[in-house]
Amino acid sequence: MLSKKIENAINKQINAELWSAYLYLSMSAYFESINLSGFANWMKVQAQEEVGHAMRFYNHVIERRGRITVSAITAPPIHWKSPLNVFEDAFKHEQKVTGMIDDIANIAAAEKDHATANMLKWFIDEQVEEELSTDTIVQKLKMIGANTGGLYMLDRELAQRKKE
Ligand SMILES: [Fe+2]
Ligand SMILES: [Fe+2]
Repeated sequence: MLSKKIENAINKQINAELWSAYLYLSMSAYFESINLSGFANWMKVQAQEEVGHAMRFYNHVIERRGRITVSAITAPPIHWKSPLNVFEDAFKHEQKVTGMIDDIANIAAAEKDHATANMLKWFIDEQVEEELSTDTIVQKLKMIGANTGGLYMLDRELAQRKKE
């Protein structure tokens, strides 16, 4: 059985993961609107990954005989100033999510819920990847600056990302 505290924290996190999916889908749509289909592809795959994260938490609650309570997902932003602005936001968002995962890990430790702590290990590793992958693109975009040839090359690179 899950404690109420853990159950509430995970239900909140499911909402946050689905919000992340919605944010990345909105970012994908923004890239489509400025004809950067490779960037749009990267963000679409990212959105699908976030749905996968929500499902991992969902399955944990179900397997532990907890109760899922779905809640409203608020609207993410729609407009950005530039590709760099989008990825800076994505990186900031992933840092925030890392903090949320750490908070749940702290609750799991306090509740002596080892099964939840174990499940969270995957997310702790995943957040290292998420911060690295978004920041890597931030750094590349900074290097590219106003060079449209560089932007075109990066768009082609990001077009290669495939759903896992
Ligand atoms: Fe996530
Ligand atoms: Fe993420």
